[in-house]
Amino acid sequence: MAMLNLHILLPVLAQWLTFLTSCQAARYNNGFFYHDLMNGNGNGEIYFNGVRLHVESPNSLVSAARGSNVTLPCYYRYEPELSVPRTTRVKWSWIPANGGSSAIAPSSSARETEVMVAMGNRHRSYGSFRGRVRLRRAAPGDMSLVISELHLHDTGRYRCEVIDGLEDESVTVDLELRGVVFPYFSQNGRYHFNFLEAQQACERQDATLATFEQLFTAWEEGLDWCNAGWLADGTVQYPITIPREGCGGTDLSAGLRSYGQRHRLFHRFDAFCFAASLKGTVYFLHTNKLNFTEAVQACIKDGGQIAKVGQLYAAWRLMGLDRCDAGWLADRSVRYPIVKARTNCGPSEPGIRNFGFLPEDHKYNVYCYR
Ligand SMILES: *[C@@H]1O[C@H](CO)[C@@H](O)[C@H](O)[C@H]1NC(C)=O
Ligand SMILES: *[C@@H]1O[C@H](CO)[C@@H](O)[C@H](O)[C@H]1NC(C)=O
Repeated sequence: MAMLNLHILLPVLAQWLTFLTSCQAARYNNGFFYHDLMNGNGNGEIYFNGVRLHVESPNSLVSAARGSNVTLPCYYRYEPELSVPRTTRVKWSWIPANGGSSAIAPSSSARETEVMVAMGNRHRSYGSFRGRVRLRRAAPGDMSLVISELHLHDTGRYRCEVIDGLEDESVTVDLELRGVVFPYFSQNGRYHFNFLEAQQACERQDATLATFEQLFTAWEEGLDWCNAGWLADGTVQYPITIPREGCGGTDLSAGLRSYGQRHRLFHRFDAFCFAASLKGTVYFLHTNKLNFTEAVQACIKDGGQIAKVGQLYAAWRLMGLDRCDAGWLADRSVRYPIVKARTNCGPSEPGIRNFGFLPEDHKYNVYCYR
């Protein structure tokens, strides 16, 4: 019975829809010819005069914590508004921030690669994003990209491109991780890393080489460091907030001092690393004082691992870890984190206090990560 009714009803409905559509068209009937809306296929080219596809994002910069789910906003709409839904294609692509992963070549060749393409309800994701991205679709025209379990290497410039026939509009959103930049040098002394070694040194401390933008932000927040370090783009720079002799001189205003691109194999400097916010916690382990080997074991016995330098920086900067007790870290350095400067706890500014790399038989407490 119900089936029968539907059969009778559908043609009637279709007629009504056609009628409604032409009424709608008539509303805008100011010289435009809404050919495609009226012939009913609903998805011809929108070449007709006056209808424009708009793609926009309320945020051109999104900061998120590592491991979190992040949304990169992107919306499209037609102007004037259309009454019949159209099938659009959406493509999200990106240029990684750490584009300079090649040990030799500069990163200027960084290209946009695909993250996801979607058409209607079908979509496909690529590379390291496979199975980890989706479109939010919280409202009509919402093509925001949701990335789950944000990785350290997901940062960069994302492009949201909406394609409707010949119309093609896009907008970019920069994704950065909440984190902290710290200078890092080799156990063998200052200016020991070539580019690849600098990359590896940061990775070993649960960090990445900082991008120019990250170092710039750190400088804006007051980082002053008079030793040059590699950045992810293969340049060598250092941040100065108080111009002085020996650090670029007093003729230069405060800012990032750059040596430009250096030879990635033969030139040697320190590194600027970037540590993103942590999933776990860094904590001070109460113990009798331990040599380095014992310290490593103590953290394991406690269900964790000895903390890496990047983890201590992230805990200090992003979680307010403040402790006036020196402890071993994974790279055999001894450090402690101070948020509120006070007497007998180092200089008058907050920071990570560093005793340097010490012989393994020295006895200290330890910072663990779990
Ligand atoms: C992130 O999204 C995934 C599914 O995409 C979900 O299982 C997980 O609970 C989400 N995590 C957070 C922190 O919201
Ligand atoms: C650290 O202490 C252990 C004993 O707890 C000892 O066997 C080891 O030799 C010590 N290591 C160093 C480098 O002193």
